[in-house]
Amino acid sequence: MACYIIEGGNRLSGEITVQGSKNGSLPLLSACVLVRGETALKNCPRLTDVDAAVNILTYLGCKAGRCGDSVVVDSTDACECDIPDSLMQEMRSSVVFLGALLGRFGRAELSSPGGCEIGLRPIDLHLEAMRALGTKITEEGGRLICSCPDGLKGARITLSFPSVGATENVLLAACTAKGETVLINAAREPEIKELADFLNACGAKIKGAGESIITVEGVKALCGAEHTVSRDRIAACTFMAAAAVTKGDVLLCGMTQDMLMPVLEPFEKTGCKLMQDTRGLRIKAPERLLSFSSVRTMPYPGFPTDSQADFGVMASVAHGTGVIIENIFENRFKYTAELTKMGADIRTEGRVAVIQGVKALHGAQVFSPDLRGGSALVVAGLCAKGVTRVNGIHYIDRGYENFDGQLAALGAKIIRGE
Ligand code: EPZ
Repeated sequence: MACYIIEGGNRLSGEITVQGSKNGSLPLLSACVLVRGETALKNCPRLTDVDAAVNILTYLGCKAGRCGDSVVVDSTDACECDIPDSLMQEMRSSVVFLGALLGRFGRAELSSPGGCEIGLRPIDLHLEAMRALGTKITEEGGRLICSCPDGLKGARITLSFPSVGATENVLLAACTAKGETVLINAAREPEIKELADFLNACGAKIKGAGESIITVEGVKALCGAEHTVSRDRIAACTFMAAAAVTKGDVLLCGMTQDMLMPVLEPFEKTGCKLMQDTRGLRIKAPERLLSFSSVRTMPYPGFPTDSQADFGVMASVAHGTGVIIENIFENRFKYTAELTKMGADIRTEGRVAVIQGVKALHGAQVFSPDLRGGSALVVAGLCAKGVTRVNGIHYIDRGYENFDGQLAALGAKIIRGE
C-alpha cells in the first residue's frame, strides 16, 4: 500500500501554484456529455477522481483524454447512457452524471453510489429533483433506472438542504428541459457558479448561480466550449495549514482572499498573518499557533467541511482549546483517532470534537481514513517530532496533485514509499 514518509520539524517557505479544483472539474466533466461537440477544460488537475470521470466519459462513447494541462472531450459520438458499477464505485460523485445523461439522452442507468468514508451520503435530494423534472426512477438490484420518455420539463424545485451535488444535477438536467426551472435553496459554493458560467458559455440560460435561487430557461441544445478550471480553494487551505503548523511563510500564487473568504478569519485567529499581493495570497505563521476557539462547518459561505480536518490538526498543536462542530457529514472525525496516535489530545462526541493543544506531536504510523483526513495527517507529520508514515494515500491521490512534490518544493522532508 502506497504511503508517505515524512520527517517533521522543517519550516515551509517559498511559493506554490495551487492546482485546479477537484470539486470544480468533476461537474464540468459531467457537463461534457450534455453538450454536443468538443470541450476543452484547461487547468484540469491530475487526480485519480478526474481519471475516473474521464473513464466514465470514454465508456459513454465520448473521445476524452488529457492534452497537457487540459482535458479535452468530444461528445459527438456519445451513445451509452448507463454507467457500470465498476466505474460508479471508482468515484462517489459519479452521481452528477445523472442530470447530464437525462439531459442528453432522456435516460440514465447507474448504481446508487454506496455510503462512503465520511457518511451515508444518500442521494434522495438528487432523485426527488429529477422526478420533479419529469423523470421516472425505478430501482432494480441496486441499479437506478431513470427515464423521461416525454422529455424533461422545467419545474419549481425546493431542496430541503442546499446539496452541492443535487444543485449541480438540477442545473445539468434543466439546461435542455422544456420551459423554466426555478431552484430554491440551491447550494452557493463557488463551484456552482463555475458550472453555470461554463454551461452559459455553451449556450445555456442560467441566472442567479451562486445565490439561493437559480432560474434556468431550457434551450434546445448546447455546444462545446473552452473553460479554465478555477484553483482549488480546499487544497489551498491544506497548504495554508501546512505553513501554519511549521512556522512557515508561503505564497499561494493565483489565490485571492475572496476565494478563501470563509477560512480567513479562523486562520487569523490562530495568529497567522494573511497578506494579499498581485501574485497571490501570502500566509506567515507565528512561532506557536493560538486556538481559533471554535469553528462549525456549514454550507457555503459558512466554514467548509472539507477544511475541517486541516483545522483539527492546527488545533492539536495550538496554545489553548479548539472546538470543531461538523454539521455537514456524520462521520468526518475518523482522522482524530490517528492524530491521537501522534500524541494529540482530542475528545469527540457525535458531531463535536474538543481539542486540547499540545506542545508537539510525535511521529507515528497512521492510516488515511478518507481524502481530507489523509491530507490532514500529512500536515500533522510535517510538524511532528520524528518520522511519520501515512498509509492509504490512494485517498489523497484522489484530490491532491503531486502533493509530496508541492510540499517538498516548500522545504518539507517527504517521500512516497510502498
Ligand atoms: C460535495 O459533495 C463535495 N464533493 C464534497 O467534497 C463537499 O464536502 C460537499 O459537497 C459539501 O460541500 C464534490 O464536489 C465532488 P452535498 P456532495 O450533497 O455534493 C446530505 C471532498 O473532500 N445529502 O452538499 O456529495 C449529505 O449526506 C468532498 O472534496 C442528503 O442527505 O455534498 C451530506 O450530509 C467530500 N441527500 C450533506 O447533504 C442528498 O441527496 C451535504 O452533501 C444529497 C446530500
